[in-house]
Amino acid sequence: MDLRQVKTSEADFGLLSYDPSFQNTAPCRSAITYIDGDAGVLRYRGYPIEELAGRKSYLEVSYLLIYGHLPRPNELAEWLHNITYHTMVHENVKKFMDGFHHDAHPMGMVVSTLAALSTFYPEAKQVHDEGSRERQIHRLVAKIPTIAAFSYRHSVGMSYIYPDNDLSYTANFLAMMYRPSWTAHYTPNPVLTQALDTLFVLHADHEQNCSTSTMRMVGSSLADPYVSAAAAAAALYGPLHGGANEQVVRMLQEVGSKDKVPALIRQVKSGKRRLMGFGHRVYKNYDPRARIIKEAADSVFAVTARNRLIDIALALERTALSDDYFIKRRLYPNVDFYSGIIYQAMGFPMDIFPVLFAIPRMSGWLAHWQEMMMDEEQKIARPRQVYIGPGERHLPEPTAEKS
Ligand code: CMC
Repeated sequence: MDLRQVKTSEADFGLLSYDPSFQNTAPCRSAITYIDGDAGVLRYRGYPIEELAGRKSYLEVSYLLIYGHLPRPNELAEWLHNITYHTMVHENVKKFMDGFHHDAHPMGMVVSTLAALSTFYPEAKQVHDEGSRERQIHRLVAKIPTIAAFSYRHSVGMSYIYPDNDLSYTANFLAMMYRPSWTAHYTPNPVLTQALDTLFVLHADHEQNCSTSTMRMVGSSLADPYVSAAAAAAALYGPLHGGANEQVVRMLQEVGSKDKVPALIRQVKSGKRRLMGFGHRVYKNYDPRARIIKEAADSVFAVTARNRLIDIALALERTALSDDYFIKRRLYPNVDFYSGIIYQAMGFPMDIFPVLFAIPRMSGWLAHWQEMMMDEEQKIARPRQVYIGPGERHLPEPTAEKS
């Protein structure tokens, strides 16, 4: 705001920074996630992502993001209890979801159902009440896998499966997705459960990305966290953000074989299309999450069949990383380049990929929302603009208009 004192005259508005898409604007100070895009470094609350992935469960990482430290044993027990206790949704949520068209995209259902939760928990409007905030955090982290699985079951015309609170967070999600309705229990494959849990850790937060900034933006008007999270999920839905993993698989399927890779690269270089899963606003180096996912792929393929798309993806990566177009622009594979291939091998349909991103990103959204609510420097978000429309002009006189 001090820039505004730089004026040409008393009547002058003062200096204003023009920064389309906030490429060089920090709207907050944050202690949650650190990224060094040039070096390819990602840390949650100081811990390198490489140390957390595979060694800490998603719910431990979720606690870390929200509370700032890894949970001590009693804190973890309480956190697990609270999340497990809130996995059920009101029966009317089921009825609400039944209203969606049979071929509705699961992400559209997730966005709408998150917003609908606001009507079930009116006390969530008490955003200045710390206890209320914490209850909504428990509910949102706990219920998003249930809503996600229900959205899938609805889209394939299968009955909903209630949460099984004897299972871990990730195993329970897989059970709600795949348990046949005629069986009482279903234990998902432990290797696949572990792989998905690691993917959840990798997707849990990424500082001021488009959806998290949306969570902060909507939350800054003191809207409740359900509608704020719905807005964040809507931002995540786009193909340039959380929808990219789905687009990567579609692109690889279209390419079909390794020998068609050069043709795709030519199309990308001529500006006809983007190479989905490549490039990042912040990373100008290999996305560390993509490296971990690529390494995890083999453990998944050992259980499922090898997804042949991985060979096309590897050829594509090799070709792109040795091509001047990509080198000059510092375009590397991002988190979405390999995640879709693993999801597909695990049997997830493509429509559900962005939903698989939304489940763990809920922790990041909530950690940032909580941080913003406690930050005395924050007010309602309200960017300025540089007006380029017409100067003052007037409607014709009413009498002239009649004639
Ligand atoms: N394929 C081809 N060219 C690209 C790509 C790409 N994927 N990404 C950037 N470029 C080019 C772009 O055309 C531009 O070239 P030029 O300078 O000649 O005009 C230059 O690189 C800079 O691109 P930009 O659009 O200014 O970069 P940005 O920071 O605004 O965009 C991005 C970042 C992620 C939206 C973009 O890289 C992209 O569209 N990638 C594909 C979609 C994707 O994979 N999204 C997932 C992002 S990671 C997960 C997440 O956080 O959601």
